[in-house]
Amino acid sequence: MASPVITVPELSQMKSRGEKIVVLTAYDALFAQVLDEAGVDVILIGDSLGMVIQGNSTTLSTTMDDMVYHSRCAAQGAKRPLLLADLPFMSYPTPERAADNAARLIREGRAQMVKLEGGRNRVDTVHFLADQGIPVCGHLGLLPQSIHQLGGYLVQGREDRAAQTLLEDALLLQEAGADLLVIECVPATLGEEVASALDIPVIGIGAGAGCDGQVLVLHDLLGLGFGKRPRFVKDFMSGQDNIPSAIRAYVEAVREGSFPGPDHSF
Ligand code: KIV
Repeated sequence: MASPVITVPELSQMKSRGEKIVVLTAYDALFAQVLDEAGVDVILIGDSLGMVIQGNSTTLSTTMDDMVYHSRCAAQGAKRPLLLADLPFMSYPTPERAADNAARLIREGRAQMVKLEGGRNRVDTVHFLADQGIPVCGHLGLLPQSIHQLGGYLVQGREDRAAQTLLEDALLLQEAGADLLVIECVPATLGEEVASALDIPVIGIGAGAGCDGQVLVLHDLLGLGFGKRPRFVKDFMSGQDNIPSAIRAYVEAVREGSFPGPDHSF
């Protein structure tokens, strides 16, 4: 039977039971309710709101105030899913700043876990947050907040050395106290390797079917977007009559392991 509310320990138990974790973004109350009713386990209030809600070309302009506002809106509509909110660009340059901003997401935005991007350079911050009792999700692979440094939305970890560094970073984040990890845009073989090396659940986006769960940006799943659709995105509206059915189709596809298939992986 589905758990009445999703907690941090429940996510870890889902991994132990081999149950896929379904994650999807939402930024407002009504969509959060639709996701909840469709059986989504974790709602990510992503800084992607800067792109899909505000129309920017990157996530870099998303502010703490934006994140708090949208997290609070999503919290109004969700009962069962765990609420995960992004710490936006430059909101965590030090462990102390990260803790102050994470506290805002939790107190004002009613989030239950915060996500930050980066590997070994974030170990002190993850440790500090975990020590304050704040659940943390790491984010490795393609890091949208470092887009100018990366030079574009490109697949990461293709070379052996880069893959090894990513795996080491994942283990370091886990050791520092992270409870969950998102990996974005890496070869499917690497996604599977990281998921089997870690005890904490690993959620993929463009990281293959071997991860412990999947996440997509809601608007991508609904076939909406300003530009070219990334390879890892599937339009779940296709063949469905309405938005709730499309979201249910995504939930089922992730749970049974049919999404992502080879067409949506690297
Ligand atoms: O902001 C976001 O929506 C994200 C996902 C792409 C994982 O971080």
